[in-house]
Amino acid sequence: MSILQKELILPNGTIISNRIAKSAMSENLSTKNHDPSTTLLNVYKLWAKGGAGLIITGNIMINPKALGEPRNVVVENRDNFDLLKEWADTVKGTNTHLWVQINHPGRQAMEEINTVLKAPSAVPLKIVGRKNASSKIAKALTETEILEIIEAFGNTSLILKEAGFTGVQIHGAHGYLVSQFLSPYTNIRDDKWGGSIENRARFVVEVYKNIRKKVGDDFPIGIKMNSADFQKGGFSEEESMQVVKILSDVGIDLIEISGGTYEVPAMMGSRKASTVKREAYFIDYIEKARQITKTPLMLTGGFRTTSVMKEAVNSDKVDMIGIARPFAVFPNLANELLNGSRSDCTTNIKKTGIKAVDGMMNVIWYEAQIKRLGEGKMAKPNLNPWTALLKFIWLVIEYRVTKK
Ligand SMILES: Cc1cc2nc3c(=O)[nH]c(=O)nc-3n(C[C@H](O)[C@H](O)[C@H](O)COP(=O)(O)O)c2cc1C
Repeated sequence: MSILQKELILPNGTIISNRIAKSAMSENLSTKNHDPSTTLLNVYKLWAKGGAGLIITGNIMINPKALGEPRNVVVENRDNFDLLKEWADTVKGTNTHLWVQINHPGRQAMEEINTVLKAPSAVPLKIVGRKNASSKIAKALTETEILEIIEAFGNTSLILKEAGFTGVQIHGAHGYLVSQFLSPYTNIRDDKWGGSIENRARFVVEVYKNIRKKVGDDFPIGIKMNSADFQKGGFSEEESMQVVKILSDVGIDLIEISGGTYEVPAMMGSRKASTVKREAYFIDYIEKARQITKTPLMLTGGFRTTSVMKEAVNSDKVDMIGIARPFAVFPNLANELLNGSRSDCTTNIKKTGIKAVDGMMNVIWYEAQIKRLGEGKMAKPNLNPWTALLKFIWLVIEYRVTKK
C-alpha cells in the first residue's frame, strides 16, 4: 500500500480516506443569481468519482455585495438550499469528503462588478489593469461591519452543514479579507483589529469561533493560509507561524498552507524556476510549522509527481497533498495517482507572450477547462489562451449588463 493511500484521522475523529486533496479552484460557474448551476454540479459529480479523499470547492462568497468573480456561488441565506443539497449529494456513495471554501474578497473584490469595496484599511490594490478610482479603493470596515462579516461566516457555514457538506474551509490565504487582516501591509488599523499579530489575528479567530459555535465540535473546520505574502512589509513567515500556533490552540481541524496575493501570486509558482522544478513551493515553511503544531497539515502548490508527494508524506512533513490545476485537466487524477497509472500530472498552458494576460491564464485557462468538464466534454490541453480570455471578458460584460 502506498503512503498516499493511507487514511488520515483528524483530531475530531473525521476520517479522510487517502492523502490526496483537490484544493479549491474557483469555478466561476454559478447561475446569474449566484446559485450552483447544473454545469457546476456536473463537474462535482465527475470529481467525486475521481478518488480524492477530500475535495474542497472553489471559494464561495458569504455576501453578494462582495464578489471575487461574476459567477461565484453565494450562500448568505437558504434561498438556494435545495441546490446546495444537490451539490453536497454529489459525493454520496463515495469515500470522498466535500468541504466548501468560504470567502470574503475584501479589497480584492473585482472592481468592475462590485459597487463598494470594503477591507480592513483603505490600501489600494496594485495590479495590472486596476484603475483604483477613488470610489473603488476599498473603504475601511467599521467595527459593526466587522462583526457582521464574522456572523456571516458562521451563518453560511451552518447552512452548508445542514445542506450536507462534510466540512468548511475558511479562505485565509491569497490576499483576501482574512489574509488582509493578518497582513501589516493591508491592515494598518489602530484599534483592537490591527497592530500586533495577536490583534491582526483576532478577526480570523473570531470567524473560527463563530463558525464553531454554530456547527459544533464534530464538524471539521479547516483554513487555507499563507506561509507569507512575499511582500515588503507584508505578512512574514514568523508571523504566519504564530497564527498557525494560535489557530491550533483554538482547535482548527486542518491547516492548508499556500502563499502570495494578487500582487505577488506566489501560490502559482511565480517566484523562482528552481522552486517550480522542485515542486512543493512551500515545503521549507511547512517543515518548520510541523515543529510547532500537532494539527494536521496540508500543503498545496506545485505538487506534480507521485515521488515528491510520497516523499513529503513519508518524511512526515505533511499529512495531506493538495493539488489544484491538474484536477482541471485530469478529473480522475487521484485514482490515477493512487493506482499508479499516472505518476506525473504536469499541465502546460500555451502562452500569449503578454505578461499580464499570461498571469491571468493561471486562473482563467483552468476555469475554461473546468467548464468543459461540466459540459460533459474532455479537457482540452491545447486550449487557446485567447479563447479563455474572451470567454472571461464576456462573463464580466454580461454580468454588468444584466445587473443594470
Ligand atoms: C482556476 C483556479 C481557481 C482557483 N481558485 C482558488 C480558490 O477559490 N481558492 C483558493 O484557495 N485557491 C484557489 N486557487 C489556487 C489553488 O487552490 C492552488 O493554491 C494553486 O493553484 C497552486 O496549486 P497547484 O500548483 O496544485 O495548482 C485557484 C487556482 C486556479 C487554477
